[in-house]
Amino acid sequence: MERVNFIIAIDGFSSCGKSTVAKAVAKKLQFVFIDSGAMYRAVTLYFLRHNIDLTDTAEINAALEQIHIDFIPRTDKVCILLNGEDVSEEIRTMQVSEKVSEVSALKEVRHALVKQQQDLGKRRDIVMDGRDIGTTVFPDADLKIFMTASPDVRARRRLTELLAKGESVSIEEIRQNLSHRDHLDSTREESPLRQAEDAIVIDNSDLTQDQQLEIVLSEYEKKKSGH
Ligand code: DC
Repeated sequence: MERVNFIIAIDGFSSCGKSTVAKAVAKKLQFVFIDSGAMYRAVTLYFLRHNIDLTDTAEINAALEQIHIDFIPRTDKVCILLNGEDVSEEIRTMQVSEKVSEVSALKEVRHALVKQQQDLGKRRDIVMDGRDIGTTVFPDADLKIFMTASPDVRARRRLTELLAKGESVSIEEIRQNLSHRDHLDSTREESPLRQAEDAIVIDNSDLTQDQQLEIVLSEYEKKKSGH
């Protein structure tokens, strides 16, 4: 049966501003916004809290069965719940960032989350951001965007974000974390980060948020009208 809802996939490296633009697009179009990275982060948080052995497949599968993730829209943001607990802040700490690429490379984790992501996009109009949305989760997405930005711009954005949250971290630590994650994300066996052939590339190093929003909306209009 042909799908009737509209799916926008936004992929790219960490801290490229994917979520910011995805959120703005979703708000403008009244689509549901789903941050797939937050799902990998929530699973990572659970694994850290329960000391899950990442080499033990049975333990990983048992843990995955205990995990339930929900997104709850609030006035100005979307909260992520891990088994009913709001973990929106905790999943952004460096502790989780340092472990998330390792956890998200696990086949069992990817299979479980890709399935949940596909279910979330079954009926509703959605904007989903991540690494493999246009390639693996929704290869038939109606609009695919691939975002990039220079490493320096990405590190500075991330630093501002973490300092605002009161985390004490240096730009060097962030640079290393980003480049380590880029490497792991793009070289893993299971759905590595790569640009879909039919994705539209946006380098936003020198673009404002409004300019990025405008570009995505104009691409949306083109797709919508069949051009
Ligand atoms: O977008 P983010 O930085 O919050 O994502 C956190 C991690 O999750 C990132 O290092 C890679 C992983 N991820 C993934 O493997 N696949 C996705 N679709 C989204 C995120």
